[in-house]
Amino acid sequence: MTAASEPHVIDTSKPHPARVYDWLLGGKDNYLVDQELAQKLPPQARQNARRNRAFMQRAAAWLAGQGVDQFLDIGTGIPTEPNLHQIVQAITPAARVAYADNDPIVLRHAEALLVSTPEGATTYIQADVREPGAILEHARGFLDFDRPVALS
Ligand SMILES: C[S@@+](CC[C@H](N)C(=O)[O-])C[C@H]1O[C@@H](n2cnc3c(N)ncnc32)[C@H](O)[C@@H]1O
Repeated sequence: MTAASEPHVIDTSKPHPARVYDWLLGGKDNYLVDQELAQKLPPQARQNARRNRAFMQRAAAWLAGQGVDQFLDIGTGIPTEPNLHQIVQAITPAARVAYADNDPIVLRHAEALLVSTPEGATTYIQADVREPGAILEHARGFLDFDRPVALS
């Protein structure tokens, strides 16, 4: 688990995307500011968040079924079971999943992302997609870039 770019400070004075999304999915890892923002979103936002999550899960399962066993998931979100690695490792136990998110609250919950099958592996880096070098450097040490890698 690595923090590449941002301090581990959880700012509860302003809404954060990971926590707003968590609230939309019915999670409990969010604060009043996140709930207030989420409640201003169009009413279909909750359903759309669930659809987005379901799509990620279907797409990951489909890729694993095609034989892809390496995944780079940028913008992981607060863990909501089943997480990407649980989906793909249920199909391919040896699958390897590298997670990245820039929100410190996701880092706080990253233990749940690191419970891998014994055959496979997961890793987490706190990093911003706008600084892709740090993410790629971390992922390159964990995934084999000479073989297919699915990007979520
Ligand atoms: C809508 S959630 C998606 C969660 C999950 N991938 C899914 O499909 O269910 C978006 C995530 O992207 C993260 N995020 C937003 N901007 C980011 C950035 N610049 N770099 C890395 N992660 C970012 C947020 O913290 C949040 O956890």
